[in-house]
Amino acid sequence: MTLTIWINLIYLLAAIAFIVALKGLSSPKQARNGNLLAAGAAVIAVGATFFNPEAHFSHHTTNLILAIVAMVLGAVIAVPVARLVKMTAMPQLVAIFNGVGGGAAALISIVVFLSDAHLHDLGAPKPATYAIVEAMLGLLIGCVSFSGSAIAFIKLQELITGRPITYAGQQVINGLVGLGIVGLAVATVLTDSVPLMIGTAILSLVLGVIFVLPIGGADVPVLISLLNAFTGLAVAASGFTLNNNLLIIAGTLVGASGILLTRMMSKAMGRSLSNVLFSAFGSVVTAAGGADGTGETRQVKSGTPEDIGVLLAYARKVVIIPGYGLAVAQAQHTLRELADLLMEKGVEVFYAIHPVAGRMPGHMNVLLAEANVPYDELKEMDEANPEMSTADVALVVGANDTVNPAAKNTPGSPIYGMPIINADEAANVVFLKRSMRPGFAGIDNDLLFDEKTTLLFGDAKDTLSKLVAGVQEA
Ligand code: TAP
Repeated sequence: MTLTIWINLIYLLAAIAFIVALKGLSSPKQARNGNLLAAGAAVIAVGATFFNPEAHFSHHTTNLILAIVAMVLGAVIAVPVARLVKMTAMPQLVAIFNGVGGGAAALISIVVFLSDAHLHDLGAPKPATYAIVEAMLGLLIGCVSFSGSAIAFIKLQELITGRPITYAGQQVINGLVGLGIVGLAVATVLTDSVPLMIGTAILSLVLGVIFVLPIGGADVPVLISLLNAFTGLAVAASGFTLNNNLLIIAGTLVGASGILLTRMMSKAMGRSLSNVLFSAFGSVVTAAGGADGTGETRQVKSGTPEDIGVLLAYARKVVIIPGYGLAVAQAQHTLRELADLLMEKGVEVFYAIHPVAGRMPGHMNVLLAEANVPYDELKEMDEANPEMSTADVALVVGANDTVNPAAKNTPGSPIYGMPIINADEAANVVFLKRSMRPGFAGIDNDLLFDEKTTLLFGDAKDTLSKLVAGVQEA
């Protein structure tokens, strides 16, 4: 067998490993193994590429050394960053990693385009049209993904406002820039002109920026998933340009899974993808923080940790509903302590996980896994909801929109139609939050004012510690 066949066999095995790894990522139990399998397969495939005689560029020793230096530099930066990042900053990290992927795909296209143009100048025939189309696809998708991810990072890191940035005629301007890119890209393919290629790249970078500006901070995770799909497609285009089968397969897998994830997130929020991308959701705060629309301030019932401790300790069944505030307070360990204590006292306890609780997919699963909460204590929304009416207490820890009954009862509400965890069906509801401020959607939650609801105000880490003491004393 020739070396090329061996290398393609390794690529085939790596592609199979990627598919098995993706399957693993669909369950918290298998996710770590899935990740390790994919990373291992990628390392072997990259290693094999160093020996691939069919690679686009000759394996000049200088190129190989430069590639190794770049990889070592990348690892030296990325490993500590990934290890030290806080759970609340994970979406930003994903944005950066995704952006550099798109940027790399765009750079590959530029290098290939320039080298082909140089050879053409030296008398070689003009590259085939399909080859220029491939390079241009990698270039423009990669550029949009790179600059879009950079703005997503800046928003999530709160270096600029997380609220949607809007201005008159925004969608028209975005549309015109999009048309301009298509026009320039077609002209580049027809003429093989370097200045036109650079113009396409610049306009694509601009589109990435203006496309992301009107998207609100909390919708940015959905956007990142979409940009991630873009990066996958740009990488697949690079695979065609570099004549590398594995890049084509891996890029397509990332593209397809990114699009599926984007759809699933939009669905879990009860909103269409176009609403997420184009409605500037979150630009207007509609909540009045306790007013019911008649100008009168409604009353809420707040409790003491001691009273709520007794309520929990003598309950038969407690359902814990975590949300974004749990991540902000970093209170997952204290929450687990409370749950374990209740279970020791014979109370049936489980965690009900809403698919978009928090600010990124699987946010609550990752957070609770960090506190070593056993997977069998976690129930997905569809599994938890039929049990809510038999719960004595729904303990809502830093969640708001994901338990807001307006999603079921108030047509016209921005979250109407979003599936929620039916905390309102439990006999008692306890909310742990710091104030009457609304959640991400910016709307009041009637459940806070319900007579079966008790509020315990404060940072969740502090209130949970007090509840642990309250349950111990009960
Ligand atoms: P939210 O509705 O945003 O509510 C979070 C609550 O946590 C707030 O009411 C806040 O009230 C409280 N909180 C914040 N910091 C706290 C702290 N240190 N201690 C105690 N409480 C604290 O969160 P959710 O229920 O998890 O819903 C998620 C929202 O994000 C949904 O609207 C969803 O559509 C959106 N979203 C999610 C995703 C993904 S993929 N997860 C993607 C895009 C959008 P106080 O300020 O009064 O404390």
